[in-house]
Amino acid sequence: MVPIIAFDEQRSQSDTKYEHGVPALEKPDPFFLSAFDQFVADPFPNTGTALDLGSGIGRHALWLAKRNWQVTVVDISEVAIRKLDQKARQLDLTLDLFALDAREYQFKPACFDLIVMFYHFDRAICPSVLSTLKPGDLLICKSSLSGIPTKNQIRSASRH
Ligand SMILES: C[S@@+](CC[C@H](N)C(=O)[O-])C[C@H]1O[C@@H](n2cnc3c(N)ncnc32)[C@H](O)[C@@H]1O
Repeated sequence: MVPIIAFDEQRSQSDTKYEHGVPALEKPDPFFLSAFDQFVADPFPNTGTALDLGSGIGRHALWLAKRNWQVTVVDISEVAIRKLDQKARQLDLTLDLFALDAREYQFKPACFDLIVMFYHFDRAICPSVLSTLKPGDLLICKSSLSGIPTKNQIRSASRH
């Protein structure tokens, strides 16, 4: 049985984690860097628009913003978003920040050139995530699929 965590509980777990600091999530993931070099750098020599979903403290969002990408960031943890806001201000970078459950984010059609999802993957929003990509553009995702609840498990958990 896959454990289902309610969103309030998820928010509070993430807030506690980020209050203590998460050094492992400060540097960009090597897979992100290699996927960017391989698939994104050439088609986007002049940068573009990106969405980092479940951004945490924004290691990938900051990396992109430093390269002049226009980055939108969504994370359920207000602590993570506050820390990211502070860091971005220190670096004089501008990000669009949303402290939100990703399910509540208003996905607009064909809005982003690049979507980044690292270690946050929610099947329920996959169609919205894909619809907010511009046609033919790119999603870089790294996640374990083993702990991800199916739609039926999510439905049954929300009935309890
Ligand atoms: C393991 S962390 C990874 C953070 C970031 N992607 C990275 O690689 O550094 C997973 C993140 O997903 C966020 N998250 C979990 N559930 C979420 C939800 N429903 N909506 C938005 N963010 C969520 C958590 O707050 C946490 O920051």
